[in-house]
Amino acid sequence: MIDYDKFDIASLRLKYQQHPSYGLINIPNFLSDDMTQQCADELEGLPLDKANTLHAKAVVCMSTTTCQLHLYKIRLVHELHSSRFLHWLEHLTGVEKLLPDPHLVGAGYMKSFAGDTLKVHTDFNWVEEIHLHRAVSIIIYFNQDWDSNWGGCLNFYDFKIEEILSSIKPDWGNMLVWNYHNLVYHGYPDPMTCPEDQSRKGMRLFYYQSRSKPDAENPPHRSLYWFNSKEKLPYDIRQKT
Ligand SMILES: [Fe+2]
Repeated sequence: MIDYDKFDIASLRLKYQQHPSYGLINIPNFLSDDMTQQCADELEGLPLDKANTLHAKAVVCMSTTTCQLHLYKIRLVHELHSSRFLHWLEHLTGVEKLLPDPHLVGAGYMKSFAGDTLKVHTDFNWVEEIHLHRAVSIIIYFNQDWDSNWGGCLNFYDFKIEEILSSIKPDWGNMLVWNYHNLVYHGYPDPMTCPEDQSRKGMRLFYYQSRSKPDAENPPHRSLYWFNSKEKLPYDIRQKT
């Protein structure tokens, strides 16, 4: 589903870091054609009544994190939560100790339609369930032949919302990645004008950073198979004097 070997991670990382303020890249054809097609078909066929529809401040999008019957979504999330992908993403972004969110808070499939907008906003930065700060966001799109004139390109603005720095078109298997920053203003504020039979489709996932420190009262150690019968405590034979 992802051919890691076809990417020159060093040059992608360089491009990522060239963003003036926080790190952002759009990688074309990241997801295989097969998987992109399967996700597009699955999302296309989703019954709207099983999705969460969010209406807030002119934001209209569809999140389907609670819907269970998503075979390809589950496969894709499994890959994007894997050790291999996490290490790859750490290398790309320069953010270490990345963790996925198994609860998929705010994440998952998304689909929007003609007339929908996404008000310019900054993202939430904390997930209470895992007590971690957000560090990296990704979106993979499943749109073939999307016309930019229909709108729906995700605009990223400067810190004063005066200038568009990047405008990312929903495309076929492309992956958008950016580092969390509290002033990353983004959205597509103009109502989309795509035909009624078209929808803007993608999957978003968010990654968090562990900043835990070893507990001084219980410092890290390997499994202990030795027992000091006098002290009634386990010990590490390699540290025994
Ligand atoms: Fe957002």
